[in-house]
Amino acid sequence: MNENEMLIEEILKLKEERGALVLAHYYQRLEIQKCADFVGDSFELAKRAKEAENNLIVFCGVRFMGESAKILNPTKKVLMPRPDAGCQMADMVTASKLRELKGQYPKAAVVCYVNSSAETKAESDICCTSSNAVRVCESLDTNEIIFVPDKNLGAYVAGKLPDKMFHFYYGYCPVHRNITRDEALKAKKQHPNARLLVHPECEKEVVDLADYVGSTSGIIREAESSTAEEFIIGTEYGVVERLTEYNPGKKFYLLSPKLVCINMKYTSLINLRDCLRDEIGEIDMPEELRLKAFTPLDRMMRV
Ligand code: 13P
Ligand code: SF4
Repeated sequence: MNENEMLIEEILKLKEERGALVLAHYYQRLEIQKCADFVGDSFELAKRAKEAENNLIVFCGVRFMGESAKILNPTKKVLMPRPDAGCQMADMVTASKLRELKGQYPKAAVVCYVNSSAETKAESDICCTSSNAVRVCESLDTNEIIFVPDKNLGAYVAGKLPDKMFHFYYGYCPVHRNITRDEALKAKKQHPNARLLVHPECEKEVVDLADYVGSTSGIIREAESSTAEEFIIGTEYGVVERLTEYNPGKKFYLLSPKLVCINMKYTSLINLRDCLRDEIGEIDMPEELRLKAFTPLDRMMRV
């Protein structure tokens, strides 16, 4: 047995002993995904966390995901093996910047991408994820929307809902935003039979070249159900690793080597083992803040 196999065995034993539910995002390292009880995109993970009956939830992802789990299921103990793993996009908007924007557009409803802090959520009317953003915006009675923080996801949604008026915020995911149209064209030329599947956090010029645009789960479902055999993946490397592992008959090419989210890669098997063994890395927040952030998140879950 090598070191990783020994750690995985120890983790599975600890998980059993503690009665823990281990959740992991698709951008986590493959060995972490293999230790999880459930792997998903941010919406599916929030839903799973909300419904969890286990007293202990261990969240392998980035900070806003662990926070959402605690907001939605407050009586459970939520731990993160790396509570210091942030999301650069979430850090781009603050509650005070959002309050300023609300002052500028007092009649607009605030739609907040879940890639945001609990404080920012607390200032919002409803949350959304990349898989339900269009549906969430469509469900609102008002036609005027402030969309924070991702300008690219916002622009993608606005393109689908021409009757709504959007005010965007200049936030973005540095990992997805860095992909250029030239890189996408080059990848398509190199793999002429491949379908291009991208995340809506990419720039419009890249999204416009795609055969499919969707959340991480959407991309995985599309690739697995398609009769095509080759795919260029325009989202984080973890998705390519997973697709390659579980679909040996198909070929997956990462659109650009830049598609690696450092924060998502922080969590190691040792971190996960220590977290389960010592119950460290608890996510908590003042109840007043939790309640304010609960309303927009819960509203999203009901759309
Ligand atoms: P998903 O909503 O597809 O899980 O994406 C989350 C994310 O952080 C994308 O960069
Ligand atoms: Fe945040 Fe981008 Fe990493 Fe997703 S990929 S967690 S949006 S920095």
